[in-house]
Amino acid sequence: MDWGMKNRLSRIIKTDTNRTVMLAVDHGYFLGPTNKLEDARATIEPLLPYADALMLTRGILRTSVDPGEDIPIVLRVSGGSSIIGKDLSNEAITTCMEEAARLNVSAVALSIFIGTDYEHQTLCNLSTLVDQAQPYGIPVLAVTAVGKELGKRDVRFLSLSCRIAAELGASFVKTYYCDEFEKIVESCPIPIVIAGGPKLDTELDALEMAKDAVEKGAVGVDMGRNIWQSPHPVAMIKAVRAVVHQKMPPKKALQVFEQNK
Ligand code: R5P
Repeated sequence: MDWGMKNRLSRIIKTDTNRTVMLAVDHGYFLGPTNKLEDARATIEPLLPYADALMLTRGILRTSVDPGEDIPIVLRVSGGSSIIGKDLSNEAITTCMEEAARLNVSAVALSIFIGTDYEHQTLCNLSTLVDQAQPYGIPVLAVTAVGKELGKRDVRFLSLSCRIAAELGASFVKTYYCDEFEKIVESCPIPIVIAGGPKLDTELDALEMAKDAVEKGAVGVDMGRNIWQSPHPVAMIKAVRAVVHQKMPPKKALQVFEQNK
């Protein structure tokens, strides 16, 4: 791997623990003003000191993050559909590589929609993006999207999606946690981070999921709603960090949450 590519990846996946706590705030790219992300700056700013990387669109980056912040950026560069449109899967590459370089990003992210009418299109998007990003030494994060069908989050579907992402040249992949998650890891030759998904009932549920994922081989989380939709987002991200980086048991990490509320 080229020096620039390695350097950017090592800013995201920390070399001391080989793990990462990425903060995902890109939801508005198809959901619009998501609950608790209406004022993106107000949500993001207090969490920045505790995130290893920030995943978002160029619009929210420019409007809501101070350029003086020392935080690796994972720039979402796919989109083109909305939650009320005809088909969420109908995505294109929405941001060019010159723009990604101008924004000094550490990686670019794009969703693939396996098993949908737009499977071919979104897989070709991924291949094109890898070709475009490689000359700049910018890693590509493939996101194994499930659209509105959250039920598709099983080992068979996610293994297929992650492996195809790796085969097409993604540097790392973001997927969902599921039963038999270790099988996804075993058959995927690139690092995996998990999304949190919709807000779970309790903080402990989200901490347990993060623990199970890293224990079974994920390099960390790219978590959004389970952090910033918590009534105490800073306490929650601190607890997630304790699980991911320090291998703290979830029940003990819950005490970190309680102490920081
Ligand atoms: C979804 O496609 C977005 O990329 C989100 O970044 C992703 O779902 C992670 O956020 P959450 O933990 O809220 O699911």
